[in-house]
Amino acid sequence: MNVKEKDAKYIADTYARFPVVIKSGKGSLLYGEDGKEYIDLGTGIAVNTFGAADSEWINAVTAQLGKLQHSSNLYYIEPDTLLAEMLCERTGMKKVFFSNSGAEANECAIKAARKYAAEKKGAEYNTIITLKNSFHGRTITTLAATGQDEFHNDFLPLTAGFDYAEANNTEDLKEKVAANKTAAIMFECVQGEGGVLPLEPDFVKAIAEIAEREDILMIADEVQTGNGRTGELYAYMNYGITPDIVTTAKGLGGGLPIGATMLGEKVKDVFTPGTHGSTFGGNPVCCAGAVNILSRITDEVLEGVKERSRFIKSELENAPGVKSVTGMGLMLGVETEKNASEIINECMNNGVLVIKAKNKIRLLPALNIPMEQLAKAIAVFKKACGGE
Ligand SMILES: Cc1ncc(COP(=O)(O)O)c(C=O)c1O
Repeated sequence: MNVKEKDAKYIADTYARFPVVIKSGKGSLLYGEDGKEYIDLGTGIAVNTFGAADSEWINAVTAQLGKLQHSSNLYYIEPDTLLAEMLCERTGMKKVFFSNSGAEANECAIKAARKYAAEKKGAEYNTIITLKNSFHGRTITTLAATGQDEFHNDFLPLTAGFDYAEANNTEDLKEKVAANKTAAIMFECVQGEGGVLPLEPDFVKAIAEIAEREDILMIADEVQTGNGRTGELYAYMNYGITPDIVTTAKGLGGGLPIGATMLGEKVKDVFTPGTHGSTFGGNPVCCAGAVNILSRITDEVLEGVKERSRFIKSELENAPGVKSVTGMGLMLGVETEKNASEIINECMNNGVLVIKAKNKIRLLPALNIPMEQLAKAIAVFKKACGGE
């Protein structure tokens, strides 16, 4: 059996894969098992921050791997403290809980918010308001947080205590907050899986005002938007707000699984020994990789993200076959006249990998994709959309 046949036989059928077997990569180039070269504009869904098989990252990871791969959270280790210090210094958050994925980072945020509200106002203050069209993960609780029925069907009953406000509708948010005993408001600054839709600045400001006035926690889900992707280290920084809790994962580890829940001043001491935990959380190898990634997301790199973003937008806005371009930095959604799947296939045939978000094409290239490769890939993409 070949790889596709074995996958069909032995892997649970949860993914509709593209018909390519990826064998290796270097930077923003990936190679199929048949040797075909692709320019990668997907980075494993915003994970490979500096591309594939990045040498600096490999050195950091393998150096740690040669020392110790795991120790459990029964003992102190250095890599998680270095990463937590770096995250706190760059965000102003106070403490960090490490886990292994975005869903787990959000689970931790929800637990922190409920514990804080229970202690401050009473256990009945347990509702988390999230936004319609949001995506927060696949566990039963983060599915409940996800404001899209299509993900809920088949898995009911979900965790109770969630209500959904319409994105960019302040009145609806106020109503939902008033109708519930609310612990927190949770949101993505740019709804990624929902179609790469940035929240409007006035709406984000309103979230901050309501949260402040009512002593409700503000949770920014930066799983996809985080770690330089939008041109700032975290997307909330584009909006001038200070969340109480920031969650991230995906690009933080540069390709190794890690989730981080950053706790601000109000909630920094909400957890006590035994109230939360994770066997692999803070794994030294993943943390060493993340320290390397984070230390390299410099102002210069962020400027490069903005520059590449401007280039893509200027190429695609008003291009034939392109209806709209949404998003921030190197997290862009392109609505096209042709069906998105058709364009994805045409790009793939012509050596460019792009992915989907709802009915749009989603572009999530490496933060350091060489301009020449980006220009080549965008030319292929434009042609697939209907241009020359
Ligand atoms: C905004 C957001 N939150 C949470 C998640 C879940 O992350 P994970 O798949 O690592 O559990 C995702 C994944 O796409 C996401 O985009």
